Amino acid sequence: MSAAFLRCIRPVCDATYDLADERYECGRCGGLLDVAYDWSRLQPPATLSFFESRWGRRVAPLDFSGVWRFRELLPFADVNDLVTLGEGQTLLQAPDPATLDLPLRTGRLHLQYEGMNPSGSFKDNGMAAAFTMARRLGRPLVGCASTGNTSASLAMYAANARLRDGRAMKSVVFIGEGKIAFGKLSQALDHGAITLQIAGDFDACMARVREASGRLGLYLMNSVNPFRLEGQKTIMYRVLEGLGWEPPDWIVVPGGNLGNSSAFGKAFIELRELGLISRVPRLAIVNARGANTLCELVNARGLRWSNGEWDAAVAQAYFAEQAAAGRRAKTLATAIEIALPVNLSKALRSLDAMNGIVCDVSDEEILDEKARIGRHGLGCEPASAASVAGLRHLIGRGVIERDARVVCVLTGHALKDPDATVTYHAGDKSGAGRGQLSNQPIRVANDLDAICRAIEFAR
Ligand code: F0G
Repeated sequence: MSAAFLRCIRPVCDATYDLADERYECGRCGGLLDVAYDWSRLQPPATLSFFESRWGRRVAPLDFSGVWRFRELLPFADVNDLVTLGEGQTLLQAPDPATLDLPLRTGRLHLQYEGMNPSGSFKDNGMAAAFTMARRLGRPLVGCASTGNTSASLAMYAANARLRDGRAMKSVVFIGEGKIAFGKLSQALDHGAITLQIAGDFDACMARVREASGRLGLYLMNSVNPFRLEGQKTIMYRVLEGLGWEPPDWIVVPGGNLGNSSAFGKAFIELRELGLISRVPRLAIVNARGANTLCELVNARGLRWSNGEWDAAVAQAYFAEQAAAGRRAKTLATAIEIALPVNLSKALRSLDAMNGIVCDVSDEEILDEKARIGRHGLGCEPASAASVAGLRHLIGRGVIERDARVVCVLTGHALKDPDATVTYHAGDKSGAGRGQLSNQPIRVANDLDAICRAIEFAR
């Protein structure tokens, strides 16, 4: 077995598989799989500041990439196979909490804005890694189910990447009809993805793409693919980089399919194992209230990781109740409109390793928060604002203290979902849907006096 391999996440099982053994679940117990490393046979850095040596080498694509400049911490592929579109050029923003009306001490709030990625969301971190594996495995046909960002990212990387023998790749994306923001749909179409609009929601698409990948030999690139999560670990490395390698007190992240939550936990478990950090931050995962499976399972039903022996029957009973009541995920934050998160067990592990908590926020809170972030000058899509809305909630409940150092992950770009933004500010056709912080456009005659009067009145 090589120094990198696949391993069942359940410690009692601990089955291992070759990296090239293309599977998403343990053949012995059905658990999810990690990409695991025998660090004693690899050369991890002795300190995180090792990576600073790459900052001055922007012309070398792998050093420029915000994923691959950390390649020693995700060493599963040969450097010649690494795929990059220059992802991960993010800056850890540090707005004054007062501008967002948050009662945190000045200097304590950080926003990890992932909208600066090539396709406009954090997914590119994961795709750089998953396409590296597709290249290594020689898989020309790749696919995913998506609420929009995964499909946009997958389509963009497929349009660029080449297999070792020079062959082009083709992408197939499964999206729920009417369930995807237009910015994201436009990306999949523009990058030439075979775009299937399924009469169903994300959960239905996820089930179908898994079946289709078996039948068509499609390489599945949802976050159930463990290589995706290797790439997404680097979001945390860049957070640490932005904080001078000092872990914050809290990481706050929206939860949908729970890929990020899972990747962040793995990143910190490994950094601790390698002795590269002395302290692990706490994790807060924020669900939209209309898609709050994790919140319900953890807070109301007490589901815990239990060293890998989490009680799957608790989750199954919950899913059965939801199905019997005809309840499906429903939120205006369409990116996280997911009722059956594929990474549930890995997210439970992250909560355990990071002394984490889960909360949920309403669509109204999400959209108001998005407007506040936009007003502050950063902008993000609705699902991203769930992290800051969750932070507000947790400070209000006294869970996060005012002098805690907090990093909220803003997962996607504001232009992904312009409909949500315009409806919030201007209202829909019937005038409904305007939010508390709305900035309504002003209708004015094509007349200079009227225009000046309107500006004077509004300023
Ligand atoms: N934020 C945005 C903008 C997303 O697009 C997603 C997921 C999430 C948060 C949730 O992240 O799944 O790691 O918990 N979007 C997926 C998609 C499901 O298909 O684009 P997660």
